[in-house]
Amino acid sequence: MLSIENVTSAYGRIEVLHGVTLHVEVGEIVTLIGANGAGKTTLLHAISGVQPITGGTIKFAGMPIEKRPAHARVAFGISQVPEGRQLFAPLSVKDNLRLGAWLRRGADLKSDIARICALFPMLESMWEKPAGALSGGQQQMLAIGRALMAKPRLLLLDEPSMGLAPNMVDHVLSVIRALKDDGLTILLVEQNAPAALAIADRAYVLETGRVALSGTAADIKADRRVREAYLGL
Ligand SMILES: Nc1ncnc2c1ncn2[C@@H]1O[C@H](COP(=O)(O)OP(=O)(O)OP(=O)(O)O)[C@@H](O)[C@H]1O
Ligand SMILES: [Mg+2]
Repeated sequence: MLSIENVTSAYGRIEVLHGVTLHVEVGEIVTLIGANGAGKTTLLHAISGVQPITGGTIKFAGMPIEKRPAHARVAFGISQVPEGRQLFAPLSVKDNLRLGAWLRRGADLKSDIARICALFPMLESMWEKPAGALSGGQQQMLAIGRALMAKPRLLLLDEPSMGLAPNMVDHVLSVIRALKDDGLTILLVEQNAPAALAIADRAYVLETGRVALSGTAADIKADRRVREAYLGL
């Protein structure tokens, strides 16, 4: 579904992705783990089209997309849940969800909104509340719900567990699993390696802009370097 070959990207003259190659197959959860500043967010932004690349190719469903603008990539079926949620804090829960369907405006969104409510029952009672009044966990649910309103085939998640209480982390992980079981393909960026590896099919370890390691989630979990550097074992 997603094939990234030798992608480089820079801020000004400083290159931060030095030739990243990875792929995501239909129906997989693939996780990208790595320390602060490794380039995880930059890579997600390169896929969604927010960050330009300086070399390499990005193919979605076989089609090169690296020259397409971000809104076109959303229309193709790529939707991103940004790091730190990036909700519209003064707007209501409902309006945040409706903005997620911006490219489908005019369409009947009732069934989509009903689906999001079924997935996140905790949002329904908060319907008219401003997004800024929600708890961290509720905000993460809303951020995921907003991304789903675009009807993606590939969901990019940037550190969904960040700043959440442990029980909320578990809840978010089970939602991500449920989305996979529903047929969605997921690229999950996490600093919380144990959480990400618990639900992923495959994993890549990014170190200072390079893929240092890749394999099945089970293989990565068992790798000595990963155990020492990322799992604290
Ligand atoms: N807007 C920017 N301008 C200049 N440099 C940036 C910018 N954003 C990120 N960087 C640098 O690019 C590198 C990769 O950053 P990036 O945010 O992609 O890492 P990350 O893996 O997502 O980190 P974190 O786990 O902290 O979210 C870092 O060295 C960072 O300082
Ligand atoms: Mg980041």
